[in-house]
Amino acid sequence: MRAESIVILTGAGISKESGLDTFRDADGIWARHSLEDVATPEGFARDPDLVHAFYNDRRRQLPTVDPNPAHVALARLERDWPGRVLLVTQNIDDLHRRAGSRDLLHMHGELSKVRCLACGAIMQWIGDLSARDACTACATVGSLRPHIVWFGEVPLHMPEILAALDSCGLFLSIGTSGTVYPAAGFVSHVRTRGRARTVELNLEPSHGASLFAETVHGPASQVVPAFVDELLAGLG
Ligand code: APR
Repeated sequence: MRAESIVILTGAGISKESGLDTFRDADGIWARHSLEDVATPEGFARDPDLVHAFYNDRRRQLPTVDPNPAHVALARLERDWPGRVLLVTQNIDDLHRRAGSRDLLHMHGELSKVRCLACGAIMQWIGDLSARDACTACATVGSLRPHIVWFGEVPLHMPEILAALDSCGLFLSIGTSGTVYPAAGFVSHVRTRGRARTVELNLEPSHGASLFAETVHGPASQVVPAFVDELLAGLG
């Protein structure tokens, strides 16, 4: 029998125990920064230096943190599960990739990439970015922006994500508050197909918890490895 395919959605909660802040918890990023100023195209047009400083701080954090057991367990699931395991993350950090996940879509973009508004090129970027930098593809100065999906912009990879949700047998949502669409709507999308098992793994019930057939609550570094062990043990 062919193993069912799995789609996993992750959010900031999975990286919390690696040392990266979530957005909406009491000590979260949106308690300290104005979302309108640093995460909208209008905010970037108003004050690019402020937006660059915000993402530069976050980019500088990447080499100081490591994947935790939850990231590692999802990479193990992809490796050992006989069917497809597609990981869709809202996170812009690189911890899933560094843990070994390869079938991975960053629907909200990536901190380690920048995009040129003049020529459209997308390039890796390790250090700080400023309005004085030139595009390495077309040499335009001041045209680079973080390759991040801001509020009001369309998330990346949506056709591939929706097709995978349509055909999956298991949908897992990990470490996300279920408040930001379209990701918050994935569980309802899956349930309208009526077939897939839906499971939330989160520190506490998310806004969308009642939409899931099953919920497991606890820190990701504990509940995710245990859930992956169970799935793999079920293979027999
Ligand atoms: N283990 C599991 N879950 C955790 C942990 C943990 N150790 N710590 C916190 N959480 C949970 C919180 O309870 C919360 O439900 O993670 C969730 C994080 O929610 P948000 O901060 O809203 O993050 P996220 O859902 O990823 O946000 C979605 O909003 O602003 C944007 O673009 C940003 O991609 C982000 C999107």
